[in-house]
Amino acid sequence: MLDRLQAQSPDALLALIKLHAADPRPDKIDLGVGVYRTGQGDTPVFGAIKAAERKLVEEQDSKSYLGPEGDMGFVEALMPYIFGAADPSLGGRVQGMQTPGGTGAVRLAVALAKAAGVEQVHMGTPSWPNHAQILADLPLAMAAFDHANDDGTANLDAALAAIAGAQDGDAILLHGCCHNPTGIDYTPQQWDAIAAALASSRALPIVDLAYHGLGHGMEEDVYGLRAVLAAVPEALVAYSCDKNFGLYRDRVGAFFVVASEGSQLPAIMSNANALARANWSMPPDHGGAAARLVLSDPKLTAQWQDELDTMRQRMRQVRQRLAEAGSAGSVDLTPLGIQNGLFSILPLSKEQIGKLREDHGIYMAGSGRINVAGLTMGNIDKFIAAVADVSA
Ligand SMILES: Cc1ncc(COP(=O)(O)O)c(C=O)c1O
Repeated sequence: MLDRLQAQSPDALLALIKLHAADPRPDKIDLGVGVYRTGQGDTPVFGAIKAAERKLVEEQDSKSYLGPEGDMGFVEALMPYIFGAADPSLGGRVQGMQTPGGTGAVRLAVALAKAAGVEQVHMGTPSWPNHAQILADLPLAMAAFDHANDDGTANLDAALAAIAGAQDGDAILLHGCCHNPTGIDYTPQQWDAIAAALASSRALPIVDLAYHGLGHGMEEDVYGLRAVLAAVPEALVAYSCDKNFGLYRDRVGAFFVVASEGSQLPAIMSNANALARANWSMPPDHGGAAARLVLSDPKLTAQWQDELDTMRQRMRQVRQRLAEAGSAGSVDLTPLGIQNGLFSILPLSKEQIGKLREDHGIYMAGSGRINVAGLTMGNIDKFIAAVADVSA
């Protein structure tokens, strides 16, 4: 029976990692993999997480099962950062649970939406490829709209048209900040327009927040989410701690339901629990427990925020340097200065991307997506010159 399975195409980014590893050139540049890198090219464990892990080893006295909801201390400690310190539960209308990474949170959000009657999800494209894969796997229909304009800004009109055209049984999946793969976020004014449109739309908002704190700041990066939540009765939120706590392989995320009334939460969360139980039973504990310890100790919280600030500032510096270069051959680099997070897309052809790899040792996804954190003050000039060379 298993011989009926057709081979799936290999993950292109994993193939790129192998190619990069096999390249002997000492000045090769990896802009493919989606992790933060320091100016020295490392992806270190946060100091605050190391300290919390040491505490965890000392203090944890059992590894007995928790439950499908995971570590609720961790989940509740995140809420003030996401929903606001003044009223993190929005008057008792928010409840969350821990998930295996942001991927688990997205999966749970769309599966719960489907269980509640959603049949189609509107989504700006391009998007993180796994969004479409998760929808196809459930399955749920996807209705694509253009996320970006050619000039590197967000296409607000397309989002508003999708929202206006939404029917009963529709949801809309929005990136909270640091859009992957384009780096193009809605401006606060655009978010206000989206929130106002959602207020009179039938679409259920699902907000995916995978890079909180990596755009402009912890408060700034949730402007859009909070604007939407202030306008709509109900929404779902998928959250990842894998980037902003550097916990990638520990798989740390959370899923939140914002209900129109708090009294609906027990029934809604019982469905979320049942879906989690059937999918992964319960999330891995270690990374979430470490994040909880960081968030419950003011000194560690301050250290974590400092480390996050350093990451964000480094990415802003790289972006500013690219924008200041103006153009590289036929590629306009200026929009990268106003884009956010790890990623941006360069308008390069497959041939030009191949030439960058072969002639210059520069590795990037076939879509033209680059991870700006792969650039350092030591290699950025070489990168700009190489882009100019292949696109001249
Ligand atoms: C937009 C978006 N959502 C969710 C995720 C999932 O993150 P995690 O690694 O926590 O599963 C990612 C990761 O790349 C992402 O880019």
